[in-house]
Amino acid sequence: MDITLIIREQVVEAVKNLYQAEVTKESVLLNPTRKEFDGDYTVVVFPYSKAARKRPDMIGDELGKYLVEHVELIDNYNVIKGFLNLSIGNAYWSKFLHELSNLENYGYQKPNGKKIIVEFSSPNTNKPLHLGHVRNILLGWSTSKIKEAAGFEVIKTQIINDRGVHICKSMVAWEKYANGETPASSGMKGDKLIGKYYVTYNTVAEEQEKELEDGKEPPILTEARAMLKKWEANDPDVRALWAKMNSWVYAGFDETYANLGVTFDHIDYESNTYLLGKDVINKNLEKGIFYRKDDGSVWIDLEDAKLDHKLVLRSDGTSVYMTQDIGTAQQRYEKFKMDSMAYVVGDEQNYHFKVLFEILDRLGESYASDLVHLSYGMVDLPTGKMKSRTGTVVDADDLIEEVIQEARTNSEERGALEVSEEEKLEIWRRIGLAALKYHILKVHPKKRIIFNPAESVDLQGQTGPYIQNAFVRVSAVFRKFATDLDESLLLKYTDIEQAEKDILLLIRQFPEVITSAAKNYDPSEVAHFAYDLAKTYHKFYHDISILRAETEEAKAFRLVLSKVVASVLKTAMNLLGIEMPERM
Ligand code: ARG
Repeated sequence: MDITLIIREQVVEAVKNLYQAEVTKESVLLNPTRKEFDGDYTVVVFPYSKAARKRPDMIGDELGKYLVEHVELIDNYNVIKGFLNLSIGNAYWSKFLHELSNLENYGYQKPNGKKIIVEFSSPNTNKPLHLGHVRNILLGWSTSKIKEAAGFEVIKTQIINDRGVHICKSMVAWEKYANGETPASSGMKGDKLIGKYYVTYNTVAEEQEKELEDGKEPPILTEARAMLKKWEANDPDVRALWAKMNSWVYAGFDETYANLGVTFDHIDYESNTYLLGKDVINKNLEKGIFYRKDDGSVWIDLEDAKLDHKLVLRSDGTSVYMTQDIGTAQQRYEKFKMDSMAYVVGDEQNYHFKVLFEILDRLGESYASDLVHLSYGMVDLPTGKMKSRTGTVVDADDLIEEVIQEARTNSEERGALEVSEEEKLEIWRRIGLAALKYHILKVHPKKRIIFNPAESVDLQGQTGPYIQNAFVRVSAVFRKFATDLDESLLLKYTDIEQAEKDILLLIRQFPEVITSAAKNYDPSEVAHFAYDLAKTYHKFYHDISILRAETEEAKAFRLVLSKVVASVLKTAMNLLGIEMPERM
């Protein structure tokens, strides 16, 4: 029984009967009533003034009377300047709560038969993951979860940039300076080891540059380029070194992904896709979608889409980043027959994706109308900007360790947790990661973030741990309340308090929050919802006694309400990739 749907349908009926006008239920403007007014839901009546030829407050009055008379759930109404506020009877709310109490995955929508590829992370294999990747990964993971909840089949994908001159740079530096050092011999995580030699390369290149005349190439760069040529020619030694070093990096990435709790369904490697796309271009040259310049290079003219001319094949016939993305998209379609695709990539590539989507559209790809660049802003530290060329970045593993440590310090200051040492570690891990993930996901993807670990683990304010704490409160209530609970008693509870209704009104919105977050590719909508619900529950918990309720009916109602809040919070936080602790 969906209350907002019922109201919409009845408004349609009322407008038809009272004013002989046809409106659709989707057109009815319906919102939760603002705090300062009486009521639960508000209908905006201005749109009906033309059909009714009456003043809005008159229409509000007539509609209100009609609805109270015809809809059992609606108890009362009042009109304020063309806004019709409706009060829902308590019987509805207890029934709603009773239905929720045994619902699995409340908020999830039925499968809609649509398949979406979400591409995220997509690192390069010359350095470890850093804070920027963390934001990317969290956005991608959360968006995937939200899309799934909204009924999509999701294929979580990444494309790993495992070839090119930057990869050869770490390889050259390793060959020259590592004396055979491996992750096993050094005890270093594989991606860290590679990252170290990438920094070595840059240090050497800079020193060499200082010695050289302007414009001359440092010898180590010449070596890296030569190595890339050999790689392209399939030189067995270079390929073996490449495979070995990449396998170290992947082992390192996997560890970080596992710590962040993310997995992928499919992985593309640029070494397999970098030649793709050429055929398509050549085929479509004849059709006139692309054109060739005198030097032999191939371009596309996108001026009528307010974009530039874009190079797609160099004069020597080699492809560029764009060509590769065209080919990869087509290859993914052949494999998955997806209906849409979302790329989680930083906002410095906004132009690239505009152009890519325009080209795929001109090529007539079936999924071209449903391509999204989930573009996000930089993450900086209170101390300034990150640079991976020099190694001054916030490393993802260090960051995870730091927030967990911070959670531990905070928890120990609050007092002793009465659980085993092992359970404590798990609790701190969950709190720390919740802090990190929530801190990043509560921000709209397009906004830049200044990340401060200490602030993120705060139990007050809009933080992950604050939301976890609401869940923990419910767990504590149920640990105290050991006897069997007769849930049907709650149906007899008729004096529902405002603090209780506020919670139910919020919970009622959860399915729409998921739909909207999925449509907007915006996990922050779910993050804000979880915070609002936790805050409303904390207030209820503070103001109203649960276990010492006035009657058994009230007690049953409040216990089930608490249970449902915990379950909705858990679902919402799971959509953000956050786990709940039982204690904290
Ligand atoms: N590896 C690339 C980078 O670090 C991002 C790849 C984005 N994905 C894509 N399909 N172009 O910039």
